[in-house]
Amino acid sequence: MFHASRRSFLSAVAATGVALTLAACGGSAEGGTGSGGDAGGSGDGGAIRVGYSQLGAESGWRTANTESVKANLTAENGFDLTFVDAQQKQENQIKALRDFVAQDVDVIAFSPVVETGWDDVLQEIKDAGIPVVLVDRTVDTTVEDPYVTHIGSDFKAEGTKAGEWVKANAADAKIFELQGTLGSGAQVDREEGFDAVVGSQVVGKASGNFTRAEGRTATEAALQAYPETTLIFTHNDDMGLGAVEAIEAAGKTPGTDIQIVSVDAVRDGLQALVDKKFNYVVECNPAFGDQLAELIKKVAAGEDVPKETVVEETAFDQTITQAEVDARPY
Ligand code: AHR
Repeated sequence: MFHASRRSFLSAVAATGVALTLAACGGSAEGGTGSGGDAGGSGDGGAIRVGYSQLGAESGWRTANTESVKANLTAENGFDLTFVDAQQKQENQIKALRDFVAQDVDVIAFSPVVETGWDDVLQEIKDAGIPVVLVDRTVDTTVEDPYVTHIGSDFKAEGTKAGEWVKANAADAKIFELQGTLGSGAQVDREEGFDAVVGSQVVGKASGNFTRAEGRTATEAALQAYPETTLIFTHNDDMGLGAVEAIEAAGKTPGTDIQIVSVDAVRDGLQALVDKKFNYVVECNPAFGDQLAELIKKVAAGEDVPKETVVEETAFDQTITQAEVDARPY
């Protein structure tokens, strides 16, 4: 049985005083309820039982990421997946993680909505000897060796790329920064990277929580508070599309009167680039489910994995064609 193997392995490691980071290999006759299910249930023997806490469904990026994860952590690929959507609430994620501990899954994977506030639950997972794979965003915790491996983007590099485009193409811009969920790795690091390049030109900031509706509301308020704004740096496409709505409702032309620099490059964002409503889009790649599946297999088998896997990303300007947008898979 997988768990007996893992526990024996962990006890043996603990007895020798070595840090506990990886699980041993094996199979299980138990399993979760599969995609979208709750705790418990019986699964197929031999499959790797993965408890996956997705942070929400707030954006086109997130939807594409969820599809990629589910398309790869399949029964055919040897996984028994329990997938839970936290609806952008940290308390929901913490509850899901505790449920996974109670289910004694083989591996826990999660995409943390914010960076802090995980100390207790990460310690509980560590005490249970369940390896953690961090997906997309990262954590800031006092727990030692809280996770085995992280796969995702270099958010700071994305912000830097956006800032460098502004420096080269809109040097005198007065910038409003439309932040993602405050305290999330994606917000903190993109802002750090961007502001290090053109922070002195930022006239105001507000969060749109990575959603189109809140992006629109925040932009409506910003157009009143900072009428001098000539460029918006939005931490994702969805908020940028909300900003387009707000700018047009105010009788201005997005992309011309107020330029928009965005992050993600989902199809709707790239369409806005073709339509000249966005000016530049830095890619944040959500389609790494295949790489994640390989990592989890290795973690479950007790093999070495890199601490960090940074996914490949590019950027797009208004030279993008309609054909490229149409070919975009998400
Ligand atoms: O963590 C990745 C970010 O989260 C994406 O840029 C955004 O669209 C999503 O909500």
